[in-house]
Amino acid sequence: MIVLSCHNLVKDFLVAGKQTRVINGVSCQFEQGEFVSVMGPSGSGKSTFLYLLSGIEKKTSGSVQILGKEIDQYNEKEISKLRSSDISFIFQAYNLIPNFTVYENVITPLLIGKKKVNEQDVDNVLASVGLKKYKNSPVTMLSGGEQQRVAIARALITKPKILFADEATGNLDSKTVVAVMKLLQKINELTNITIIHVTHSEKCALYGHRILNMLDGKIISDRKVTNRL
Ligand SMILES: Nc1ncnc2c1ncn2[C@@H]1O[C@H](COP(=O)(O)OP(=O)(O)OP(=O)(O)O)[C@@H](O)[C@H]1O
Ligand SMILES: [Mg+2]
Repeated sequence: MIVLSCHNLVKDFLVAGKQTRVINGVSCQFEQGEFVSVMGPSGSGKSTFLYLLSGIEKKTSGSVQILGKEIDQYNEKEISKLRSSDISFIFQAYNLIPNFTVYENVITPLLIGKKKVNEQDVDNVLASVGLKKYKNSPVTMLSGGEQQRVAIARALITKPKILFADEATGNLDSKTVVAVMKLLQKINELTNITIIHVTHSEKCALYGHRILNMLDGKIISDRKVTNRL
């Protein structure tokens, strides 16, 4: 089943006073349960592509279909439901709330989405990222890898169908990178969530099923990974 697709997607930005085409007619489809890596040089449009696919950034033209519906057809309320439950993001900078505990950080999206906190769900998601024992610790006490795992738990607590990760391992040392990539892979296999992960690392890209390569706002290659890690 296709959960996400775009057709002739275009995004123009005013860069230094000049109208610039940052995404230049991209068409692409993502299946449920696919783990896709997006690569390409700095400035090629990877982050912008993710923001357009998730509706965070408004497209200039073309179409984006999320979970079977054209993004333009979503009203404000549906868009906010989409953002608070069906899709999640993790970033290079973990974006945790420093004065909060692990638990408080993880439940934040539920509070924002005005949803009930199911304690069992919180325990399960913390166990899945191996952080149950840090549940009541302030996040500032944790290592970088642990903080990113808190961010992953926070992204998963709403049981999203699509997880976007923008250089989620960009700030981590190589050993921790492997642990986080294996964790994403495990979550993908267990929950059949669709993951779209931007990375600059050739090795990280091999944890996915498929690699998209971007250049100058276009997808220049789209291939299956045959030697998956
Ligand atoms: N909000 C914005 N306003 C103006 N220009 C922007 C904006 N966001 C991105 N751009 C421009 O769009 C181009 C693509 O940026 P984008 O962040 O998508 O690249 P990227 O592939 O994610 O790069 P990196 O690997 O460095 O993160 C860049 O030239 C950037 O300056
Ligand atoms: Mg980027």
